[in-house]
Amino acid sequence: MRSDILVIGGGIIGLACARELARQGRRVEVVERLHAGSGASIAAAGMLAPLAEVPKPGPFLEACRASRDLWPAWIAELSAETGLSIEYDASGTLLVAHEADEEAHLDKVAHAAAAVGEAAEEIHHDRFREWVPDASPGIRRVLRLLGDHRVDNVQACAVLAAAALAAGVTLNYDVDVERIELLDGGGAEGPGVRIHVRGGAPREADHLVLATGAWSGRIPGLPLLPVRPVRGQALLLQGVEWPWRGCLRSRHGYAVRRGATGLLIGATVEEAGLLAQPTVAGIASLLAFTRHTLPGLDATRLDTLWAGLRPATPDGLPLIGRLPGQPVWIATGHFRNGILLAPWTAREIARQMTGQEPSGEAAGLSPSRFINLPMESEAGSGYTVHS
Ligand code: FAD
Ligand code: GLY
Repeated sequence: MRSDILVIGGGIIGLACARELARQGRRVEVVERLHAGSGASIAAAGMLAPLAEVPKPGPFLEACRASRDLWPAWIAELSAETGLSIEYDASGTLLVAHEADEEAHLDKVAHAAAAVGEAAEEIHHDRFREWVPDASPGIRRVLRLLGDHRVDNVQACAVLAAAALAAGVTLNYDVDVERIELLDGGGAEGPGVRIHVRGGAPREADHLVLATGAWSGRIPGLPLLPVRPVRGQALLLQGVEWPWRGCLRSRHGYAVRRGATGLLIGATVEEAGLLAQPTVAGIASLLAFTRHTLPGLDATRLDTLWAGLRPATPDGLPLIGRLPGQPVWIATGHFRNGILLAPWTAREIARQMTGQEPSGEAAGLSPSRFINLPMESEAGSGYTVHS
């Protein structure tokens, strides 16, 4: 049966868009090469951190703040739809400085927070030691960003998949899309899109949402999207008993509480192609950050190591919106903020797919900023239009 909308990619972005569109009454099918949330979305740290990640006022910071504000109600909805819970914490983020140049960074972030009316407070050394007893005595200043929260993104992906199913989305795993074909009246039921999948029958739909994360520049049949993988390695410690339940970060890394006694340490930022594997050098750099910032954790159990691929674009901003003149919407390129931006992206894609203008927060995110249409066909790029 032909769907109204095919979503390629079952990461947090594809699942969020699929659920939102199904709730609007569309017949939605997700196709995913692996399993739900098996790409960057489960590798992430789960920080909802507009201030630490985007300390520059503008539409993108507004999109990030709007999405952060959507998260609590989104979790409540997802939990009501599935009976499942998602760990969420709004204690904030402790931005710490050892050196003078790190203090300058704290000043910059505090200034940016004040400029947009976000709360940031200096934390006295004694209070900090109480919250984070394993912290280095060399930390000279701590700024608490009250608006930078966190969520368990692994739980969120699982609950979102269940919520998408409950909303009527068809989830197809182990389906590898090899090529996209734009139909010009030549499809079984008129114009739309056809996807060709490895070892299976093609599928058709009226519209397509491309949410293939770091692989988005690699599916033939669409204009070449300038999305490249940027690897992030992370690790999880277990047995951390701090009173502090939020995030802690410096310019060299971050530590994010997870579960009762977990502490996620991240992350490298590396151009390593599609190799999503932890390396000796990467994990060594995370351990160096841990030993420098949190030396009291030296005897703590190292539980798990992993790596994921962030979808990055040349200007560091996502690609959100329609390919001009085509039944194809792009929702990718979220780089360091795809978990944060998931509810906002779903709302924005649904808004644009119902014919409304892009919101002000989406200014500058249209994929057309990188694509001059029409493009000549070349391997992996260019339209293939069949009539
Ligand atoms: P993905 O989760 O990668 O999903 C894309 C999916 O598409 C994959 O499952 C893939 O299998 C599928 N796919 C690709 N090609 C095909 C095909 N041809 N056919 C079928 N399926 C296909 N963001 C935050 O907001 N906060 C954080 O704290 C944070 N921390 C991070 C830490 C690390 C270590 C990393 C690596 C990333 C972090 N991020 C964070 C970024 C965030 O993880 C990403 O921006 C986000 O997960 C992107 O989601 P996505 O759904 O676009 O991509
Ligand atoms: N947002 C944190 C990261 O991408 O590592």
